[in-house]
Amino acid sequence: MAQVIDGRAMAAAITAQCARRVDALLLGGVRPALAVVLVGEDPASEVYVKRKVVECGKAGILSIEHRLPVETTGDVLLELIETLNADPSVHGILVQLPLPDGIDAAQVLDRINPAKDVDGFHPVNVGRLSSGTGGLVPCTPLGIMKLLDSVIDDYRGLNVVVIGKSNIVGKPIAMLLLEREATVTVTHIETRELAEITRKADIIVAAAGAPKLVRGYWIRPGAVVIDVGITRIRGEDGKTRLVGDCATDELDHARAVTPVPGGVGPMTIACLLENTVSAAERSDN
Ligand code: GUN
Repeated sequence: MAQVIDGRAMAAAITAQCARRVDALLLGGVRPALAVVLVGEDPASEVYVKRKVVECGKAGILSIEHRLPVETTGDVLLELIETLNADPSVHGILVQLPLPDGIDAAQVLDRINPAKDVDGFHPVNVGRLSSGTGGLVPCTPLGIMKLLDSVIDDYRGLNVVVIGKSNIVGKPIAMLLLEREATVTVTHIETRELAEITRKADIIVAAAGAPKLVRGYWIRPGAVVIDVGITRIRGEDGKTRLVGDCATDELDHARAVTPVPGGVGPMTIACLLENTVSAAERSDN
């Protein structure tokens, strides 16, 4: 049987560690604060934002929600970003994606002060990540590295196949793994003979958002599989449940796998807390 990497337990440990760092900051008169901006009423985003706020509370991080109606203009949102940039009591700014049609997400992300960009989506932080020069790193890839670090010591020369080329997961995880001297192949929905490629992988990061795309025969024995997918589907019983990008019941021959839910998801939020505490530690207030 493959080892199931417990993302919930690891996330709880990170949250507890963040709480200790928050205590130290409080002694110095700094209360780490995260501004969470949600535009519109996307149900999935509502769930994610709620979870982020709850987890902030567990670590002692102050979260300030800014909920704006779906008809909000880009200019109003940019104004809010400027206000949050200028507010010394705000250490992290998170704009939940996707933004409604009509708002240019890139323009909004560009406006966030890179030092407060706890999502790591600002071009300055993207550039720092790709040049290996620090900066805030996107939360999901950061969480994936911690999950992988629990089962892998040395990445040098390992073959990693990333499925998915998103700015949030695929591209940044490739950069982090390259820094660790893995051999990284980034694939995506247009990649031909994908199973042929994944069969050569020591590590597979599945982030395509395609339920059960990765089958057992795609995986070589002993590989480590990180399942980033979360798709809500309705079962035959009428109940909805979350499924990942991997056919989990076919992965017994893997060395280690992450479950969905309870794998990457909780780690993403824990790393958001970590980024927020780091941003507060680096600020003067
Ligand atoms: N939407 C989906 N994932 C993310 C994320 O990591 N951060 C933000 N801000 N929005 C998202």
